[in-house]
Amino acid sequence: MNRSLTANVLSLALVLILLALPVMSHAEQATDREYINLPELMVMEDGTPVTSQEEFAARRQELLTLFADTMYGPIPAHGFETSFEVLEEGDTLDGTAIRKQIKIHVSTEKGSSDALMLLIVPKSDAPVLVVYGLSFGAVHTVLDDAQILASYSVRKYPNVEEDTRGIQADMWCIAQAVQRGYGIAVVFCDDFSPDNTRTYNRRIISLFDEPDFKGISAWAFGLERMADYLQTDENVDASRLVVTGMSRLGKAALWAGANDERAALTIATVSGTCGASMSRSNTREQIGDLNASFRWWMRDSFKTYNDRVNELPVDQHELIACVAPRKIYVSSAETDLSNDSQGSWNAMMMSRDAFRLFGHEVIEDNTVEQPPVGTRVFTESMAYHMRSGKHGINAEDWNNYFDYMDLYLQ
Ligand code: GCU
Repeated sequence: MNRSLTANVLSLALVLILLALPVMSHAEQATDREYINLPELMVMEDGTPVTSQEEFAARRQELLTLFADTMYGPIPAHGFETSFEVLEEGDTLDGTAIRKQIKIHVSTEKGSSDALMLLIVPKSDAPVLVVYGLSFGAVHTVLDDAQILASYSVRKYPNVEEDTRGIQADMWCIAQAVQRGYGIAVVFCDDFSPDNTRTYNRRIISLFDEPDFKGISAWAFGLERMADYLQTDENVDASRLVVTGMSRLGKAALWAGANDERAALTIATVSGTCGASMSRSNTREQIGDLNASFRWWMRDSFKTYNDRVNELPVDQHELIACVAPRKIYVSSAETDLSNDSQGSWNAMMMSRDAFRLFGHEVIEDNTVEQPPVGTRVFTESMAYHMRSGKHGINAEDWNNYFDYMDLYLQ
């Protein structure tokens, strides 16, 4: 090659690099992981770049459809009726709060299913922010209050409330929520869809002729029905609904929060695989492991990706992005054995362009490592913390969430 040709080639290369720079947008996260064949968040499936809020609205719909079609299956949006009945109401927590117990009744032409929602709101002159989510135990386990009824799905067990009342109170911190001015609404996940392969399709799922309607989407459907009620309650500020869940129920909360624009904030606690953690290059639970152990959570066709995760047309940074322009809070625990926390940090970092498009402040941090144990990062549109200890949820998690709400959801 002669000199001028070499110079031309070099300057052409330089021009190409400079042209490529803005394309490698600031969303590119420094990461120690290799994400092969990673779908581009801000590009429509037909290759059109997404550069405006209107275009992102279309991209979001496209992504939600892709997630339903490949992973979670659909969440029915019509073909059913919902009604509510306040079964009981009274004072609780030494008179500082109001307890309501609401029957959520869902019916279709195939039948009906009931769920019991416990709602605790601090006494207040104005409607309050309410955090709503599903619990691993019946609702009488989340607060030591003798008036709390048995969830519908445990009524067949005699004396269940007497034996287990309040045993999961530490996982919900309802007294602390009330002290901070916030309400909590809880339904036992089994009231919507029992968490086992034998009976998962007996309740909500049995009301629909939809073979791809599975456990996680049934829980997300339930969370949507909870929001339906909360919107109508005079003690609840419908503009400050916060959807939450831990672990498998965090996967459901994220899927619900991505879909349901009524949730102003979505909190996913140690939600892991098919929650906030990337499917690609996951160092913990692989999608094949999840599909093998929990066959009733995702649509059957998702299992065809077990050995080809890099061919998934979506990854979890795009699910987090579907929460935009609303707020997202992802949290992790240090010794968690099922949740790939670095993978959830990476997912959040790679979702940022969606939030930026709305002019919202995001975590401007391009270090490879997630924040160290014991630290939290709060911004207008996203927050993350890593606490010490194991898989689960505790008062430290809730304190961080309440602090975030104090700062960003007033
Ligand atoms: C299992 C499962 C995880 C899930 C967790 C939980 O460990 O593999 O995906 O998040 O249970 O729900 O506690």
